[in-house]
Amino acid sequence: MKRIGILTSGGDAAGMNASVRAIARSAMSAGLEAYGINYGFAGLVAGDIHKLESIDMDGIISRGGTVLYSARFPEFAEEKTQLKGIEQLKKFGIDALVVIGGDGSYHGAERLTQHGFNSIGMPGTIDNDIPGTDFTVGFDTAVSVALDALDRVNDTATSHQRTFIVEVMGRGAGDIALWAGIAADADAIVIPERDYDIQAIASKIKQNRANGKDHNLVVLAEGVMSAAEFKEKLDKFGVLHTRAITLGHVQRGGSPTARDRVLASRFGDFAVKLLLEGKGGLAIGIKDNKLVASDIIDTLENHKHVTDVSLQDLNDRLRF
Ligand code: F6P
Repeated sequence: MKRIGILTSGGDAAGMNASVRAIARSAMSAGLEAYGINYGFAGLVAGDIHKLESIDMDGIISRGGTVLYSARFPEFAEEKTQLKGIEQLKKFGIDALVVIGGDGSYHGAERLTQHGFNSIGMPGTIDNDIPGTDFTVGFDTAVSVALDALDRVNDTATSHQRTFIVEVMGRGAGDIALWAGIAADADAIVIPERDYDIQAIASKIKQNRANGKDHNLVVLAEGVMSAAEFKEKLDKFGVLHTRAITLGHVQRGGSPTARDRVLASRFGDFAVKLLLEGKGGLAIGIKDNKLVASDIIDTLENHKHVTDVSLQDLNDRLRF
């Protein structure tokens, strides 16, 4: 094996650059060449591919976004598009590919693997919703960005004695809501993995107020409904002075946390090690703080990310 290709795909996440750097530099230190593919699978098919030099990796560990750009490219679900991608990889003499991204991106890597091209899926998404790993690169940063915003919201909520419903990202997963919500002392965390009882949440808020609490915070995962819809429901149950806000894409940007940078570095180095051992068709991850690799097809077809919903119970106990 001589050349490793790298692409970032789907929604960007802080730490993607740290991931690219780790794969490229590990490959280089093993005597291999690294090739960057711009705009994810779209760039792959278009042949937007270039050799990466070590100097290109200087300083990118601290930068948010992705220097390789990203794209959503549903066309890659078509076999002829996948074969075109493989044709481009062969044209550039690339022997194996590391795909950094979320669920959708992993499916691209899965398809290439099914066509016999060695590909590794490396978790890079704020949602933390990929099977085969406890944590994804970008999740920790997104939680800390959300937490910073929630702390600020708590300040203004207190000044005006308001109830804020803050919608955080996560697609179908409640992980960001749970982590940021616990850390921000939320009165309630509402996640798609569990039913919610609007009446109980409204009663709790009203009871809190009766007991002298001067503000309230509900952290809502986007997979449940919008903050505006949730606010309307709380209003109907007589909760006063409510405000709804959506944090949105701010959670995807910014300089990655140390934890995300280190995780990205470990993942990137691990991916190269596996490829050097001739292993491919894998999804890599971290479980119980150990790097793990599982068959990418089996991981995607037969496993689901499991959100630790016990964190919601923990929050309920701490907010009693
Ligand atoms: O997967 C990352 C994510 O930010 C999700 O949390 C969110 O649902 C989605 O992407 C937003 O996608 P887009 O950037 O295409 O609006």
